[in-house]
Amino acid sequence: MRTHDAQTLVLTALTEGPLHGYAVNTAVEKLSGARLGAGSLYGALARLERKGLVEALAAQGRQRPYRITGRGRELLAREARTMERVSGQVFETVTPDEVRYLDRVAATGAGRTYKHVARYELRAGPGHTVLDLGCGPGTDLAALAGCVGPAGAVIGIDASREMVELARERTEGLPTVDVRLGDIHQLPLPDAGADRARTDRVLQHVDDPAAVLAEVRRVLRPGGRLVLAEPDWDSLAVDHADLDTARAYTRHITDRIIRNGIIGRQLPRLAQEAGFTVPAVTATTSVFRDVRAADSVLGLHRNTRRAVAAGYLTEEQADSWLAALASDGPFLASVTLYVVVAEVPAARP
Ligand SMILES: C[S@@+](CC[C@H](N)C(=O)[O-])C[C@H]1O[C@@H](n2cnc3c(N)ncnc32)[C@H](O)[C@@H]1O
Repeated sequence: MRTHDAQTLVLTALTEGPLHGYAVNTAVEKLSGARLGAGSLYGALARLERKGLVEALAAQGRQRPYRITGRGRELLAREARTMERVSGQVFETVTPDEVRYLDRVAATGAGRTYKHVARYELRAGPGHTVLDLGCGPGTDLAALAGCVGPAGAVIGIDASREMVELARERTEGLPTVDVRLGDIHQLPLPDAGADRARTDRVLQHVDDPAAVLAEVRRVLRPGGRLVLAEPDWDSLAVDHADLDTARAYTRHITDRIIRNGIIGRQLPRLAQEAGFTVPAVTATTSVFRDVRAADSVLGLHRNTRRAVAAGYLTEEQADSWLAALASDGPFLASVTLYVVVAEVPAARP
C-alpha cells in the first residue's frame, strides 16, 4: 500500500478513534487538504475491511462507524518506519556546516552560472580595487584577483572570524588579496577609494540593507560599479499536490528563515534610493528536478521541521509533504536570484 493512497489516508484518519464515513472524510481532508470522492472513500473502507485492517462497528442509526484493528495499526507503523528510512535516504537530516554548504552551492551548475553572470557584470579590470563584501570563506577572491592583476587589489570583508580565517588560508600566496574582519554597515575604508564592489547572498542577511548600500556608495569612486547577487525567496516554487502547503513552506522561509527574504526584487529601488543608477537587472532561476540536489541547497527537510515548529505547517501537512517529495515521482523546485548592477554617477567634467 502506498503512503498517499486512499486506504492509507482512511487508515490514518481512524487512528484517533472510530468514525463513520462522513467523519472519516473530514479527517482525511484535514490530513491531505482534499476530500475523497464517495467511491474512493467507501471503496477504501471495503478493501480495508476485507484485509482485516478495519472493522465495522454496530450501526448507530443510519451511520456505521469503523474502527482500525491491531493489524491496521501495525501496518501503519511499518509504513511510517519505511517512510522514515526513505526520507532519511533522500533528505539531509543534519544541518551541514556553513562552509561546506557555501562550497557546495558554489559548485552547483546554478551557482556557477549566476556567479559567472555577476563576475561578468562587475567588469573588474587590471589595476582596479575591488571589494567583496561578505566574502565568506573566500569563494570568489581568487577569481577577482585574476581580474585585477598584479597592479590591482582585492579586499574581502566578512563579519565572521571563522570565515575570515578560512578566506585568508585559501588566498595565501595571492599578494593582492587582503581579507579583513568587519561589518559592512561600517566599512573600514576611505571615501571614493574603490572601483568595484560586490555582494553575493549577503544583503539577504544583514540588519539594514539600505544602510549598507549607502556605505558602499560612500566608498566607491564616481563611475564605480557595484554588483549585487541576491535571491528572492518568495519566488521559491515547489511542485506539490496541495498548493496551500507549498505556499506555506515558502512563506515560512521568507518570513522566518531569511531576514530579508525578498531583497532580490527590492534591490533596484534601494540602490536608486542610495544614489546609484541601475543600468541592468538580470535574473537567473535555479531549477531542481532532483529532490536530493534540491534538498542539498534548500534544506527541505530541516526547514519543513522548522515550519512545523513555527506553526506554518501542521505535523500532518509536513509528513504528507515530505513523503510526497521523497517519493519516486517527478520533482520540480525553482528559485530566482537577481543580479543587479548599480553605478555611482560619474563626476561632472
Ligand atoms: C551566504 S554567505 C555568502 C558568502 C560569499 N559571498 C559566497 O558567495 O560564498 C553570507 C556571508 O555574509 C557574511 N555577513 C553577513 N552579515 C554581514 C555583515 N553585516 N558584515 C559582514 N559580513 C556579513 C556572513 O558572515 C557570511 O560569510
